[in-house]
Amino acid sequence: MQYISHSPEDTQKFAKEQALELTREGGGKPIVIALEGELGAGKTTFTQAFAEALGVQKHLKSPTFVLMKHYGIHNVPNYHTLYHLDCYRLNNSVDLIPLGGGDIVHLRGTIILIEWAERVADILPKNHWIIHIDHPPVGRAGVSEQTRNISITENN
Ligand SMILES: Nc1ncnc2c1ncn2[C@@H]1O[C@H](COP(=O)(O)OP(=O)(O)O)[C@@H](O)[C@H]1O
Ligand SMILES: [Mg+2]
Repeated sequence: MQYISHSPEDTQKFAKEQALELTREGGGKPIVIALEGELGAGKTTFTQAFAEALGVQKHLKSPTFVLMKHYGIHNVPNYHTLYHLDCYRLNNSVDLIPLGGGDIVHLRGTIILIEWAERVADILPKNHWIIHIDHPPVGRAGVSEQTRNISITENN
């Protein structure tokens, strides 16, 4: 599925819709989302709005320096915890072992959003979602600084 976002607000709205849809369909099965895209693409912006839609009460900040943060989910049935990982500074998944990074992806009732998931591809379960955000070259027809192409694909 492809979506063209024209502003941060647009991306937020799309992220909220996806949060409600994926949790409704998921029924408590772990949801793992690999977020791909360059620095500044909008991965954290997407994650913040996704979390907000699930009733996460704290404003989510990027966990670049701590690698992983977790939040309580309050708004939707069957899901209780959202994990946010940012693997920007990692070369591979070895650094996630002390955090139990490889295990959380199998827990019922959890949602895991991973920025720079390409770097820890081996911890992703076979079933996961890939959300790729890219910033098309400015100057093409209809493309501004705020344009983003967002694609969602299911890997299974
Ligand atoms: N359509 C858009 N969607 C998301 N972010 C956008 C968009 N247009 C501009 N931006 C800006 O781009 C930046 C994205 O930052 P961030 O979400 O931290 O990216 P990443 O986590 O991918 O590095 C923010 O400053 C945001 O306001
Ligand atoms: Mg980020």
